[in-house]
Amino acid sequence: MNQHARIETQIPFIDVAAQRRRLGTRIDDAVRRVMDHCLFVNGPEVAELERQLAAFCGARHAIGVASGTDALVLVLMAKGIGRGDAVICPSFTYAASPEAVALVGATPVFAEVAETTFNIDPAGIEGAVAAAKGAGLDPKALMTVDLFGLPADYEAINPVAEKFGLYVIDDAAQGFGADAKGRMIGTLAPVTTTSFFPAKPLGCYGDGGAVFTDDDELADVIRSLRNHGQGTDRYDNVRVGMTGRLDTIQAAVLIEKLRIFPEEIAARERIARRYNAALQDVVRVPHVSNEHSCVWAQYTIRVSDGCRDALAQTLRQQGIPTAQYYPVPAHRQGAYRDYPVAEGGLGVTDRLSGEVISLPMHAYLDEPTQDRVVAAVRGALQK
Ligand SMILES: Cc1ncc(COP(=O)(O)O)c(C=O)c1O
Repeated sequence: MNQHARIETQIPFIDVAAQRRRLGTRIDDAVRRVMDHCLFVNGPEVAELERQLAAFCGARHAIGVASGTDALVLVLMAKGIGRGDAVICPSFTYAASPEAVALVGATPVFAEVAETTFNIDPAGIEGAVAAAKGAGLDPKALMTVDLFGLPADYEAINPVAEKFGLYVIDDAAQGFGADAKGRMIGTLAPVTTTSFFPAKPLGCYGDGGAVFTDDDELADVIRSLRNHGQGTDRYDNVRVGMTGRLDTIQAAVLIEKLRIFPEEIAARERIARRYNAALQDVVRVPHVSNEHSCVWAQYTIRVSDGCRDALAQTLRQQGIPTAQYYPVPAHRQGAYRDYPVAEGGLGVTDRLSGEVISLPMHAYLDEPTQDRVVAAVRGALQK
């Protein structure tokens, strides 16, 4: 055996370039068409993408917007949520979820997540409502998050939300493309938002997002709000809005990517199953019930607190990147630590944030590379 340490090539965590190589001139041509017609804002590709996205998930309306964060802000604005109102959301999420709530002047109230799914625990919603009321707030909405690509448990969540009069907003920035009992994300809550950030399962080449709903009136208001509160024409402003539109070039890119999205979801599912089979005896692998599908925005395992950093370091030395989503939950972040937390506390959230570690995951991760990741994880943990 060679006495010198083998130099391993660096594995990308998410390989955006592999997809770019596959799509090649199709994307170049799509962007060139926009360059030719020069309708960079509200061009025909935006309406075409919206039509295709709505057909893809079965929602009546898909509305292209500038980012996943803007999508959330626009929904909250459209629902008139603001000062004095509470929006219940998980703390185990990306900062954008509570950020959107705070941006409209409302108060995020953090609720507990379930140990097995990392998604909001239906049993914890009541404690969050109590905390909101205790703080003198009016609980108006529940922002669920389909973390790592797995839909939250809407069958259990929706009745609880109804009992407490909470409007459900599905933050599906990580979950678009997944389903529950055959119903796609985009139709599981009265309104759904997503992000097309490049690293997302369906990503563009910059910032982008969308809102999905069956509610005609809400869709009209969001279309107006993303365009400076426009009424019948450009210089008729009927409400205070913002610049929240999806660029035509990004829509053109997304139309090409949407064509291969189902194939990519299937590839991600195959990889996750292989990872699960090869790792389930050494770590806690993600659990997906038979009733849900997952788009694997992240493949996240759990290791006992204390050995996570050593695992990350060992893998890094072998050219294998990892990520920790999220090492500090929102309720412990400087920006959000003064907001209320559900009665009973967030013990599961705190534990998960110390144990989760995500492995490389994308549709173009070949089997030898998957095997390299598996061997490195097993080797590191069995020492
Ligand atoms: C759960 C969640 N919500 C919202 C967002 C915000 O999306 P964007 O970056 O497009 O604003 C993200 C992005 O990572 C996210 O993961």
